[in-house]
Amino acid sequence: KQILFASSEATPYIKTGGLADVVGALPKYIDPNEFEIRVILPKYECMDSKFLSELNYVCHFYVDLNWRKQYAGIFEAKRGNVTYYFVDNEFYFAGPNPYHNLHEDVEKFAFFSKAVLTALPLLNYAPAVIHCNDWQTGLIPVFLHTTFGSDVFYSGIRTVFSIHNLKFQGRWKIRDVMDVTGLPEYIFDHHGMESYGEANLLKGGCVYADKICTVSPTYAHDIMTPEGGEGLDGLFESRKEDLVGILNGIDYDIFDPKKDEYLIDHFDCDTIANGKPLNKACLQRLFSLPERENVLLVGIVSRMTDQKGFDLIAYILEEVLTTLDIQFVVLGTGENRYEHMFHYFQKRFPNKIGSYIGYSEERAHAIYAGADAFMMPSLFEPCGLSQMMSMRYGTVPIVRETGGLKDSVCPYNEYENTGTGFSFCNYNAHELLHILQYACEVYYEHRDKWNAMVLRDMRTDFSWEKSAAEYAKLYDSLIISDESTI
Ligand code: ADP
Ligand code: GLC
Repeated sequence: KQILFASSEATPYIKTGGLADVVGALPKYIDPNEFEIRVILPKYECMDSKFLSELNYVCHFYVDLNWRKQYAGIFEAKRGNVTYYFVDNEFYFAGPNPYHNLHEDVEKFAFFSKAVLTALPLLNYAPAVIHCNDWQTGLIPVFLHTTFGSDVFYSGIRTVFSIHNLKFQGRWKIRDVMDVTGLPEYIFDHHGMESYGEANLLKGGCVYADKICTVSPTYAHDIMTPEGGEGLDGLFESRKEDLVGILNGIDYDIFDPKKDEYLIDHFDCDTIANGKPLNKACLQRLFSLPERENVLLVGIVSRMTDQKGFDLIAYILEEVLTTLDIQFVVLGTGENRYEHMFHYFQKRFPNKIGSYIGYSEERAHAIYAGADAFMMPSLFEPCGLSQMMSMRYGTVPIVRETGGLKDSVCPYNEYENTGTGFSFCNYNAHELLHILQYACEVYYEHRDKWNAMVLRDMRTDFSWEKSAAEYAKLYDSLIISDESTI
């Protein structure tokens, strides 16, 4: 049974966020005795040269984008059981980042989606399922239904469309999208890709895919509500029979305190009493904070946007820094106002907050391993991987109960000594402040209970095996229902 993942990013080749972690890991964990997995990505100029040099040319062809014909090369690489294809076009995939502005990106990913389908007969490869990810690949199910619909080569291919973040839908002017894709006019009505007067690539993927997936069960529920549906809740409600939520895992090959190459000292449940303080001291040095073993050190690794709850942090940071004995280490990039906020507070409270505005794997791992707690008060969170990574390193999550955060963090109960983290319910800055105060209380006054929670965190199973088995079932449901209709 052959499955093709189509995505705009995947580790280790190219990463801007959690999507890359998922597409980089999940294929490795799907049972290779039952499935043969391949992944197709754009060949970005900004990929690390060590990866670019390991790719082998396979073939090239031209993609029909309405009245234009654009060159597409296919390159190939193998990693373990998984074959990776890369679509080459130096015009579309140039520049320092995978994404530029929405207008260019819509055309670029329309090209990519059509190139993926055009490549298949040339590769003599008709997968049973194409697993599409986010709006960048939303046109694949649409093209399969229309442009490629009458070609028998494609007739057995089923599609799964995974939503990693509904906030980003790839919405653009209908006329322009029609022009680039050459799709017929009827596709752009409200039963198809149209949404609020615009063409919506994510909606196209969701309408025409055989199954829709989200990255946690709670988020699957959230997107059927007006609060979480980003304008598409009606569509999800109408397709709820085909909508599933499967919690992401994390890659245990990479996020493992016993062998993580970024750590100065390795540890497990038995050796954390030595390993955590060493990593904590190293982290404090890295962020120019005083080396204090017994201060509550809270980490943040995040895109700095409202999704991640930074407006709540902005409301309370001054009060937290003036009233609590706490240190923060912050890593991320995003909106200027938040980047400046951390610079400002770092100047005012140099002993309490250290920040690094930028992207750094090394610092991210240092935070997961060296901090005592990890804060993620998201407004919404399809899944969230950082809280799971933290837990794996014995770093207690402080989260808001939404989406995948709710599915992965069990609230601490001081009476029963259960739970894996601190959580609050309403999107309210004072609730965040109170939970931070409570975390301080447990850390300073009940260290034995805190330490017991750390061990529960490290023992929680976030490996991919369980979720990969659920995906296998989903693919099988499509393949088997096909076989039974033959
Ligand atoms: P999202 O995909 O919404 O940004 P996730 O929690 O699912 O959130 O995944 C974020 C991923 O990106 C994690 O692997 C995290 O470690 C990584 N990450 C985010 N910001 C940075 C950064 N500034 N430097 C290094 N890694 C980062
Ligand atoms: C998105 C979401 C995040 C999720 C990730 C991987 O970026 O914002 O919650 O963990 O995709 O699925």
